[in-house]
Amino acid sequence: ESESTVSITVVGASGDLAKKKIFPALFALFYEDCLPKHFTIYGYARSKMTDAELRDMVSKTLTCRIDKRENCSEKMEQFLQRCFYHSGQYDSQDHFTELDKKLKEHEVGRVPNRLFYLSVPPNIFIDAVRCASSSASSCNGWTRVIVEKPFGRDSESSATLTSALKQYLEEDQIFRIDHYLGKELVENLSVLRFSNLIFEPLWSRQYIRNVQLIFSEDFGTEGRGGYFDNYGIIRDIMQNHLLQILALFAMETPVSLDAEDIRNEKVKVLRSMRPLQLENVVTGQYKSHVRGGITYPAYTDDKTVPKDSLTPTFAAAALFIDNARWDGVPFLMKAGKALHNKRAEIRVQFRHVPGNLYRNIGTDLDRTTNELVIRVQPDEAIVLKINNKVPGLGMRLDRSNLNLHYAARYSNEIPDAYERLLLDAIEGERRLFIRSDELDAAWALFTPLLKEIEEKKVIPEYYPYGSRGPVGAHYLAARYKVRWGDVG
Ligand code: BG6
Repeated sequence: ESESTVSITVVGASGDLAKKKIFPALFALFYEDCLPKHFTIYGYARSKMTDAELRDMVSKTLTCRIDKRENCSEKMEQFLQRCFYHSGQYDSQDHFTELDKKLKEHEVGRVPNRLFYLSVPPNIFIDAVRCASSSASSCNGWTRVIVEKPFGRDSESSATLTSALKQYLEEDQIFRIDHYLGKELVENLSVLRFSNLIFEPLWSRQYIRNVQLIFSEDFGTEGRGGYFDNYGIIRDIMQNHLLQILALFAMETPVSLDAEDIRNEKVKVLRSMRPLQLENVVTGQYKSHVRGGITYPAYTDDKTVPKDSLTPTFAAAALFIDNARWDGVPFLMKAGKALHNKRAEIRVQFRHVPGNLYRNIGTDLDRTTNELVIRVQPDEAIVLKINNKVPGLGMRLDRSNLNLHYAARYSNEIPDAYERLLLDAIEGERRLFIRSDELDAAWALFTPLLKEIEEKKVIPEYYPYGSRGPVGAHYLAARYKVRWGDVG
């Protein structure tokens, strides 16, 4: 039996994502000996470039994360020798046929497997898929295609995209990436819940008061305004990254860890979500702010953004899952750019202890309930807030942290999300990729809301660059008797 080989083609090789994430992730996998023995990497883009120029470009993006190890530059050189470039149009069958010829030269005598990473905007990825898949159809190995969001802007455009993709590919060839699912602490979520008796039985409305999913960045859309203005923060972060985390968090116990079993449970959560009301959503947009003599720009100062843009760069929303487990529990989401810090976390606030013997000692019951904080980034950690007696003769309670701080506990490197996901795609593991019914359910939830915001031209609440965002987010939370856990 002949050995197999994998050809990885990065379509859109000169783009930002390819440079920042895809090539470095492939190198990290190579460094860790995780790539198959036989593999070839092809960059594909419109610009003219030689193999040497591509290697030069790629080499600038590679870091030896583990640069203390001596053989890093040697490994880098070996890696670069396996990178090639083919320039072509995204809609040209001929150019993909030329690529196909080149791939075949590397595949001689081996079972050819092909992975295409489409790091190009959706308006060109259908053409690229058509060309790439037909050039690969003669092979007897597998062909898989990774696609990046945005998968459309709403239910209709997403459905159009899906049906176009399905003309050329089977569902099990399509790997829709949501890189938040590749993050270490998101992956750990189900380990934490399902393998710990002190959590698993508590995971319901009976013990959990609310769940908060928080994403913030301390920089604006600088340089990406053109893309961003057409999407806004709800599509950029909530409809995918935060909603995916919510689905993983809230799903029923899957039959097994098999990809279909997990995605079956996630999609049920998504389909049980209560339709989103505009009154349960707050939107914001950052305005310019001067601090320490530096002027931070407004969103609309970006040259690629229309001056009168109402696109939200911040949003907070209260969501509900209308099923037996979560009936009445608010899931609060908050996502924003140009805020005071960069952070992604999941906060679970538990209920009060019924008949708490110490209720008269703690001054603020709201602040003395248990809270589980899963900090996805930066500085990965799991923190459990518990009540504790302050040592001494008196009786005073204090809320203290049981702290699992990854940097202190583990010396292992935390892999970048793209490393895990690329490896999974090469291995055919679909657990962390979005199935089309999940995507449909996610759009079904957000499309009516997005339409309403856009049709009514809802004015976002303006907040200064670098601030904590609109106060409206606090009123929204207060309506459900919730206090955001990330603010003091
Ligand atoms: C992307 C969004 O999906 O995620 C960006 O399009 C955002 O706007 C990015 O900055 C955040 O990813 P990470 O991994 O840096 O938190």
